Amino acid sequence: MSNAIVVGTQWGDEGKGKIVDLITERFDVVARYQGGHNAGHTVVVGDRKRVLHLIPSGILHPGKVCVIGNGVVIDPFALLKEVEALEEEGLELEGRLFVSNRAHLIMPYHMAIEAAEEQRLGEARIGTTSRGIGPCYEDKMARRGIRVGDLRDLDAFRDRLQSNLKLKNKILTRIYGAKTLNSDEILERYRRVAPGVLRFMADTAEYLQRATRAGRSILLEGAQGTLLDIDHGTYPFVTSSNASAGGACSGTGLGPGQIDGVLGISKAYTTRVGSGPFPTELDDEVGEAIRRRGAEFGATTGRPRRCGWFDAAVGRYAARINGLTTLVITKLDVLDELEEIRVCTGYEMQGRPIGSFPMDVAELERVRPVYESHPGWQRDTSGVTEYADLPRQARDYLSRLAEIIETDISIISLGPKRDATIILEESPNLQSLFSRG
Ligand code: IMP
Repeated sequence: MSNAIVVGTQWGDEGKGKIVDLITERFDVVARYQGGHNAGHTVVVGDRKRVLHLIPSGILHPGKVCVIGNGVVIDPFALLKEVEALEEEGLELEGRLFVSNRAHLIMPYHMAIEAAEEQRLGEARIGTTSRGIGPCYEDKMARRGIRVGDLRDLDAFRDRLQSNLKLKNKILTRIYGAKTLNSDEILERYRRVAPGVLRFMADTAEYLQRATRAGRSILLEGAQGTLLDIDHGTYPFVTSSNASAGGACSGTGLGPGQIDGVLGISKAYTTRVGSGPFPTELDDEVGEAIRRRGAEFGATTGRPRRCGWFDAAVGRYAARINGLTTLVITKLDVLDELEEIRVCTGYEMQGRPIGSFPMDVAELERVRPVYESHPGWQRDTSGVTEYADLPRQARDYLSRLAEIIETDISIISLGPKRDATIILEESPNLQSLFSRG
């Protein structure tokens, strides 16, 4: 068996959706471990583009089982919308999709409070996806959350809802001056979706344990990225869960000793959505060219993504935090037309190099990225399928990235389609992720 984690090593949107879709055939089960419908996995199959927010893209592969783990927060309406769309396309979900009975439910008051809080913060807002993710995780930690399994007993559900709503309505009216919400209306809406959610409910930790014992392999899929991790990211401009590899165990119920490796995903440049420091951000025509060519607009919110040069300080940090086994570089083709490509090799503050990655966003705002310049290849790489056929400058660029991040690169993605990928099958680190001992 081989259980592997796929994790974003930047601020999300690294192209995890395509890579997970590509390697799913080598696994039996795909499980998501954190986040919610704030994520957006874009997968292109043939000429069709699909964006999935909650359900792992493994669902598009007949015969594969998909799990939404206990660490994920679930908006039941978003879940059922995806279920409906997939079933309309003729996909069989019965026995192939399992949702953890321990996953927490996003409630309407989570969205209302998030909207009010972002408004209160004004200029200092996080720039969230407005899906109620943060307030839902807050309730989980405060031990007042409502979980998928609670939908089985709607009387008890109503009691919890009423108790929570008493508090939430006070917060909404007295602190934010917002409108109250009605518990009967909420109960009715959740009553209507309950059967649709319960249809997929399972003790997914138990399921994954059994699958592992039976020698089946599991791909653990993280959403967002390491720098958006609640503990290791650019706090407070982060999401509210452990997006880095560490979250895979707590978010699914597999133990650390049951994980065989970690596949990091990184773009050939850097992007970020929402507020927060971004040392290599480009506010010029190069940034605009990358945004245009890379179609860098949020898959969930449609917001234009901030774009900048590859940041190896971020890359090295993420390689360590996640204990990366090997790395995937995506969207290399987006750089095809550039004359010069820069790489940030580290940061300086007042002329002195900075050793560890700054914990303080104010400090990260002030660092000076140290750049080295690489010549662009200025050639179309879109049809390339062999590493040796990449332009020499592109190979040099990749070698340099691997060297400064101290992690080997074993997959290179050159476009959204499945076949626009170079997989270095001979990489021993990649083989260790896929091997079945
Ligand atoms: P939240 O996850 O909606 O609470 O948003 C917190 C921060 O994470 C914001 O900066 C969002 O833009 C960012 N974020 C959340 N999900 C994603 C994602 O899937 N890709 C990129 N950024 C994300």
